[in-house]
Amino acid sequence: MGLQSSIAVVGSGYVGTVVAACMATLGHEVVGVEIDSEKLELLRNGDAPFYEPGLDERLRSAVDSGRLTFTDDFELALERSEVVFLCVDTPPGENGHPNTTSVAAAARAIGRAMYKPHVLVTKSTVPVGSGNWLATTVENELPDGVDPSVISVVSNPEFLREGSAIDDFLYPDRIVLGSDDVTALQLVQDAYQPILDQSFPGADPTHRPVLVRTDRSTAETIKYAANAFLATKISFINEIAEICEWVGADIDEVAYALGLDKRISPEFLHAGVGWGGSCFAKDLEALAATARSHGQEPRILEAATQVNKHQRHRLVRKLQENLRPLRGSRIALLGLAFKPNTDDTRDAPAIEIAASLMEKGAIVRAYDPMVKSIPELPNLQIVRDPYLALERADALVLVTEWAELTKLDFHEVATRMRGNIVVDGRNAFDPRAVKAAGLTYEGVGKGVMISNGRYSRS
Ligand code: UDX
Repeated sequence: MGLQSSIAVVGSGYVGTVVAACMATLGHEVVGVEIDSEKLELLRNGDAPFYEPGLDERLRSAVDSGRLTFTDDFELALERSEVVFLCVDTPPGENGHPNTTSVAAAARAIGRAMYKPHVLVTKSTVPVGSGNWLATTVENELPDGVDPSVISVVSNPEFLREGSAIDDFLYPDRIVLGSDDVTALQLVQDAYQPILDQSFPGADPTHRPVLVRTDRSTAETIKYAANAFLATKISFINEIAEICEWVGADIDEVAYALGLDKRISPEFLHAGVGWGGSCFAKDLEALAATARSHGQEPRILEAATQVNKHQRHRLVRKLQENLRPLRGSRIALLGLAFKPNTDDTRDAPAIEIAASLMEKGAIVRAYDPMVKSIPELPNLQIVRDPYLALERADALVLVTEWAELTKLDFHEVATRMRGNIVVDGRNAFDPRAVKAAGLTYEGVGKGVMISNGRYSRS
């Protein structure tokens, strides 16, 4: 299986846990560092502290094999490793800049425990130019007599999507490594070699990822630019969707035809209520803040964010237009997670939409297969079955396209509801099935009510 690396992974969020579990199943010796005792206990038993498809199984087999261990002791972790992946979270901070408190704390703890050479690999999304700051932070804490050259920082941005994080890690399009230190780069590259060669059990040798070796600032910029581009692409198609509603066109057919152009590609061209999650808004903000701090006006980045906010308002507006008055109306809100196959509700469109509807006097009953409470909305009723949410509802609004929700039986839906409005915020329902049940269908960018089969995907 090739060279075996000794790796430490600091932080057990979505990125860290996936990196630790996958690196161990690739054959490396991995020690995960987690300072939260509850999470540590779970991880030691092979349980992820959050939901991610396939992760528990992989974690358990890595822990059982003995190649993956967890500790809260930085000294022990550094003693056993050569390459340290820094995967602590960087939540939104002030003025658009991410909050790097946890990153700094982890860097200091790493510095204090370091007495032999280590490559510190930043997977946490840190502002462009943070590599130098991190190296200095570690250096300042080194025990007396330790040569500062023990530390080398490599930027290795992460492109994992929640819900498909393991596949994204094992079968990536590219791996980006940024540093001027060739030896450090090589050590990190060695850790990724089984993925680069697609030589691990279950690999796909027909799709070997491209390795991009570059300097640190470029690597850091690639991460922000990738997320900014994807978010902008979605905002673009959502703006076109609104035009479709005015001119009587169908956004899904428009997007399909656009995506056939290889220069555009069909990915991230799905119109709907817009993007959410922990990354897009935060990274767009941070990149815009970097531009502004240099006197540059980030026009496209700002527009992408504005269009995204507008999408959420537009959905509320559609309900207001259909339910006059909105006050006192019952709304079944289906889907709370920011996208399917995750329990993550950070910047989830559903939360802003639910809050806005309740603020306008609507009674909202929500259902999500994974999310059972929203602490910031204590008054939101969350029920355990989608049909319970629909009981005597005036309108159904789909915000997250969980497979379970897109396959609703609309005849059953119609009998449960007292009204007949269906607002499909993800264009995920079959409009014909909705209409056949006597309900009124409203999607996003559906100036033409129902696709009449003029195009074929075969
Ligand atoms: C994103 C990036 O894709 C990933 O590379 C990066 O590492 C972290 O941020 P994630 O936030 O997990 O990943 O979710 P993603 O699948 O990118 O979806 C983000 C949002 O965009 C979701 O709310 C999703 O519903 C929305 N989306 C996505 C659309 O509205 N339309 C699309 O066509 C695609």
